Amino acid sequence: MSLTVVTGSNRGIGLELCRALAARKAQVLAACRAPSPELKALGVEVISGVDVATDGGVSALAAAIGERPISLLVNNAGILAQESLADLDVTSIQRQFEVNALGPLRVTASLAPRLERGAKLAFITSRMGSIADNGSGGYYGYRMSKAALNMAATSVAHDLKSRGIAVAILHPGFVRTEMTARHGSVEPAESARALLARIDALTLETSGTFWHMNGDVLPW
Ligand SMILES: NC(=O)c1ccc[n+]([C@@H]2O[C@H](COP(=O)([O-])OP(=O)(O)OC[C@H]3O[C@@H](n4cnc5c(N)ncnc54)[C@H](OP(=O)(O)O)[C@@H]3O)[C@@H](O)[C@H]2O)c1
Repeated sequence: MSLTVVTGSNRGIGLELCRALAARKAQVLAACRAPSPELKALGVEVISGVDVATDGGVSALAAAIGERPISLLVNNAGILAQESLADLDVTSIQRQFEVNALGPLRVTASLAPRLERGAKLAFITSRMGSIADNGSGGYYGYRMSKAALNMAATSVAHDLKSRGIAVAILHPGFVRTEMTARHGSVEPAESARALLARIDALTLETSGTFWHMNGDVLPW
């Protein structure tokens, strides 16, 4: 059976995506930097040491997959920090670019040869990366890195279409995870269920669309 691969799988939305996929009897490969007890308890295949911002981490993931085909890749790993214009922390912004924008692109490029015909790719982005939706400013690194991710994912959608591979660019909602200090309007499990519903509905015709997990199409 072909693999479903999820990055950032040890907690939050990534953990719940793995739980929901395992419940469907998918062949899950959970990639993380370090496994959590909750992830270990799922009983899925876990590959640790996968820092998406490093060549070594991405190579370790590719090596663990070997020649096995992939039917679904979810680029979920991400970080959020806050910067202010008055005290710009450029290093923080660069780090978010490395993890949020370049990380998913590195993983996708590395695993693209393993994606089977008809496979699906999901990029977990944020509506905070939408320029049209930016009504409050700030969050330079997060907003800029997710906008860059949206552009990268759009190019991937074009580049892989001829192989029958469809791409979903997904905002998971305002989710109660460590990233939001448990603030939010939805639980990670509910977000994961909705994200999988979007991925299920994804077709080549709708590839490259930027969706809210509730199904609304979001503006760029
Ligand atoms: N929560 C929300 O409201 C919300 C809204 C919009 C978008 N999102 C997006 O949803 C995705 C999941 O976020 P979450 O809410 O589940 O946050 P979370 O609980 O903070 O989880 C983030 C995940 O990303 C992993 N990660 C961070 N840096 C990494 C790196 N360099 N390499 C590999 N993995 C790394 C973390 O692993 P470690 O434990 O090793 O750090 C963790 O598994 C992110 O892309 C985030 O931007 C979340």
